[in-house]
Amino acid sequence: MATERLISPTATGSDDQNINWSLRPQSIDEYIGQQDLIERLSIAIQASQFRDEPMEHLLLHGPPGLGKTTLAHVIAQKMGTQLHTTSGPALAKGTDLVGALTRLKPRDVLFIDEIHRLPVAVEEFIYPAMEDFRIDVCLDSGMHARTVQIKCKPFTLIGATTRAGMLSSPLRSRFGIIHHLDYYTHDELRIILSRSAGLLNIAHAHEEALNIIAERARGTPRIANRLLRRVRDFAHVRTNNKITQSTVDDALNLEGVDALGLDHIDRRYLTIIASIYEGGPVGLEAVAATMNEDAGTLEDVVEPYLLQIGFLARTRRGRMLTTAGADHLGVTLDRPVDDHILFNSEDPE
Ligand code: ADE
Repeated sequence: MATERLISPTATGSDDQNINWSLRPQSIDEYIGQQDLIERLSIAIQASQFRDEPMEHLLLHGPPGLGKTTLAHVIAQKMGTQLHTTSGPALAKGTDLVGALTRLKPRDVLFIDEIHRLPVAVEEFIYPAMEDFRIDVCLDSGMHARTVQIKCKPFTLIGATTRAGMLSSPLRSRFGIIHHLDYYTHDELRIILSRSAGLLNIAHAHEEALNIIAERARGTPRIANRLLRRVRDFAHVRTNNKITQSTVDDALNLEGVDALGLDHIDRRYLTIIASIYEGGPVGLEAVAATMNEDAGTLEDVVEPYLLQIGFLARTRRGRMLTTAGADHLGVTLDRPVDDHILFNSEDPE
C-alpha cells in the first residue's frame, strides 16, 4: 500500500514514531531549517514572555513530516509551559474540547493536529476560547436552554494542517501567526542527519554518504532519519558498520529508493502515465484505476513530491508527465509537453 512506504512522510508505525521522537530537537536552538519561521517564533515568544502573556495562536501548514509537532514541543519548551496534544478527528463533540481547554494552565500550548478535520460543532466552541479564553457551554434545550460561560486560562493554540485550503476562514482568521513550512534543503538535511548519526551512535558515516541520504530524503527530515536507520542496519550486517557512498547506494537500491528518492510506487505512477496514457493529460481517477490504488491516496501521498520536483504537472485537462519526469524514466514523449503545461497549468493546492 502507498501509505506503508519507506519514503512515506508520515510515521509508519509506533516504532517509527518512537525513534523519530528520540531524534527530534529538544529545544528551539537545536532546530535546523525553517529559518524564517524560527526567527519569527523566537521574537513572538520573547515578546510574550516580556508581557507575561501566552504567545499568539499559530497555524502551521505544509506537507507531512516537516516538523509541525516538533515545533509545538520546542515552542512549549521555550515558553517554559506544558504542551497538550490532540487532533481534529479525536475531538468529536464540543465537550471533548471543553475537557482539553479546562486542563490548561496559564500560557500552556494546545496543539491540534489535522485541524482541518475539526467537526463544525467543535470549531464553534473554539472561537470564544481563542478570542476571550472563554467556553460557552449550552445546557438543556428548547425553552430551558441556557448558555453557561466557563473561563479557561490564557493559552496558545497551535493548529497544524496539510490542507490549509480546507480550513474555514473564520477559524483561519483567528490565528495571529500563519506560516507555511517548506521542504528542507539538502544542506539542512545533511546537518540533521549528522546530528541523528551521533544520537544513533553511528561512528563511521562519511560526510558524502550522509549527503546521498539527504538527496534521497524528499526534503523531509522524517524520511531522512528513516533512511539513515535502514542504512545503519545494512551497514551493521554487511559492511562492519562502515557507511560509505556505496553502502548507502547498495542499501537504498535494495529498498527500491532511487537517486532522487522515488520508490517503486512513484515510478509505477509515472510509468503508467508515460506508457498507457502517452504522457497525459489523463484524469487522476483513470491512473488510480489502472494502478488499483485509491485516487485520494495517490493525490495525498504520491503526487505532492512529483509535483514539487517538476516531474508531474496538474493541468486543466488532467495529469501530465513533464520532460524532466520522462528523462528520469528514460523514455521519450512524442509531444511538446512543457508548452502545453505553461498555458494550462493550475495551482495544485
Ligand atoms: N530532527 C528532525 N527534524 C529536525 C530538525 N528540524 N532539526 C534538528 N533535528 C531534527
